[in-house]
Amino acid sequence: MSGSSSPRAKRIVGLGGTFRQASSSERLVRAVLAECEAMGAQTIMFDGPALARLPHYSPEQPGRSDEETALVDAVRNADGIVIGSPGYHGGYSGLVKNAVDLLEDLRSDDRVYFDGCPVGLVVTAAGWQACGTTLSALRDVIHAMRGWPTPVGVAVNSVEQRPFGPDGTLSDEGIARAVRAQAQQIMYFSMEPAS
Ligand SMILES: Cc1cc2nc3c(=O)[nH]c(=O)nc-3n(C[C@H](O)[C@H](O)[C@H](O)COP(=O)(O)O)c2cc1C
Repeated sequence: MSGSSSPRAKRIVGLGGTFRQASSSERLVRAVLAECEAMGAQTIMFDGPALARLPHYSPEQPGRSDEETALVDAVRNADGIVIGSPGYHGGYSGLVKNAVDLLEDLRSDDRVYFDGCPVGLVVTAAGWQACGTTLSALRDVIHAMRGWPTPVGVAVNSVEQRPFGPDGTLSDEGIARAVRAQAQQIMYFSMEPAS
């Protein structure tokens, strides 16, 4: 009798956000993850406080902390990634950069860095210029690390658009559509997990 087992759920990892209580970039990443979950994915989030527990990346440091290992392992086993950053001085934040630098630990893996992996990018900034430059900078980083930035990137002007209602959920239908579209692309472009 041939056994048939259903494929495991896709694993999607989110990382990003800031220390702010109502971090808009964190909320956006979580919104994309929620859409992926609605399509059957398992998700895990590394938010601003979690990223802040990572030491400053040091290439020659012997050993890794539990927090560093958790992030590297999650990304290593991910079928798709979502990265969110605020625009800080026209670029992405140091918190996010430090986390991405740690992923240098994936350089010798069978799947190097983000090779072949869809990566959704979300940005919030107080102005449109930083929305564009930050999203573009993140795309370059993902390309450098062999990842596939999804065609849909989400950039939100947190002053003009105010995308979240008082309960923290997305209240702007246009942004919600973009978030949904990005989640669909992450799920669609990620490889089917082996059974
Ligand atoms: C240190 C710092 C630098 C910033 N630089 C810019 C900038 O260059 N351009 C811009 O439009 N907004 C800038 N902002 C505003 C943030 O990008 C904006 O408030 C963002 O939505 C914050 O994200 P969060 O809600 O996840 O904390 C800056 C904010 C901080 C704290």
